[in-house]
Amino acid sequence: MYSVASYGSMMADQVRMNAYAEALRKSVKPDSVVLDIGTGTGICALLSCQLGARRVFAIEPSDAIQVAREIAAANGYADRIEFIQDLSTNITLPERADVIVSDLRGVLPLLGHHFAAIADARRRHLVPGGVLIPQQDTLWAAIVTAPKQYADFVEPWETHNHGFNMQAARKLVLNTWGKGRVAADQLLTEPKLWAQLDYSTIESTNISAELNWNVTQAGEAHGVFVWFDALLAEGVGFSNAPGGGAAVYGSALFPFLQPVSVQVGDEAQVRLSANLVTEDYVWNWHSSIRGRGMVKAEFRQSTFFGTPLSPLQLRRRASDFSPTLNDDGQLVSFVLARMTGANSLNQIAEELVVEFPSRFANHQTALAKVSELSQQYSR
Ligand SMILES: C[S@@+](CC[C@H](N)C(=O)[O-])C[C@H]1O[C@@H](n2cnc3c(N)ncnc32)[C@H](O)[C@@H]1O
Repeated sequence: MYSVASYGSMMADQVRMNAYAEALRKSVKPDSVVLDIGTGTGICALLSCQLGARRVFAIEPSDAIQVAREIAAANGYADRIEFIQDLSTNITLPERADVIVSDLRGVLPLLGHHFAAIADARRRHLVPGGVLIPQQDTLWAAIVTAPKQYADFVEPWETHNHGFNMQAARKLVLNTWGKGRVAADQLLTEPKLWAQLDYSTIESTNISAELNWNVTQAGEAHGVFVWFDALLAEGVGFSNAPGGGAAVYGSALFPFLQPVSVQVGDEAQVRLSANLVTEDYVWNWHSSIRGRGMVKAEFRQSTFFGTPLSPLQLRRRASDFSPTLNDDGQLVSFVLARMTGANSLNQIAEELVVEFPSRFANHQTALAKVSELSQQYSR
């Protein structure tokens, strides 16, 4: 969930925003119907109105949509923008759109159900031959020297560890990836294409490809750096490649388990895979670096190993585990069972205090809990 301030940062990224504005200028005609998926505080919907769109559907699940409504009204567009607080995958529109604009990316385009949402919008919300913005994202990868970013991963556990052996934590954080930026001269290899995402055909959410490089600059290799170039409309795009570009996305550093000293001509091979599991991607990067016929390093890393899980938690996730509700589960179940439309939040809170006296000192704290669950689960 983004804050209003973070929607401000997205809009303030001029490289990104100017490209989106230009792509809309090329695509929205007077009389167009536009669908803005993930409108946030409404910028693409507003630009579409300014370009003469006849009707704009602005979809956003978060409460930021309330701010977008106020902004639309303040600019005289309240009658042309129809705001819908939901996910695009849950709604049916009264008419299909000529143009669908979205930016559902995170640091990289692989974020949650982004690809499934685009595939669904293309099938159900777009007129045949309609325009999708963006059209394509191209993901690039290179081996990089990034001492500062690498230090952010490891220094707490090996420099600021007060003399204790903290290798367990060091190993765990090196199985996560981080947002970062590097300069072009920090690349130790040429960039190689990892994936080309064509939103006019995309279906699958998972990506896996092997990358092979020859080192072109000697140095300490700290990991694999991944970034993307976006094509929004014909001839309009932006890049967050090392050395410049759109700042709000950043790029991703997949660190090695150890820095590796490489020479010009060394060979690096990495299989980089991303698999969507429920809401999040599990990333795997299996790396091998060879020089003069010798293996310099082999690492098998995965974000699966980057999350601490106690044996008890693992047991609770096992497919043969038969669960019973803990205290919190009983409390939530008690409240949900009373959300039938017949009881007010006040009435449910009163019952909650009686049923769970050790959890709620007074009616007010029980009401806060019931309100939170109502916000999350009521229609
Ligand atoms: C990166 S923000 C972009 C905000 C705004 N469009 C802009 O360009 O500044 C992406 C937004 O998409 C929303 N979102 C993600 N998936 C969505 C979906 N399937 N339907 C509607 N909104 C979605 C998120 O809640 C978030 O507000």
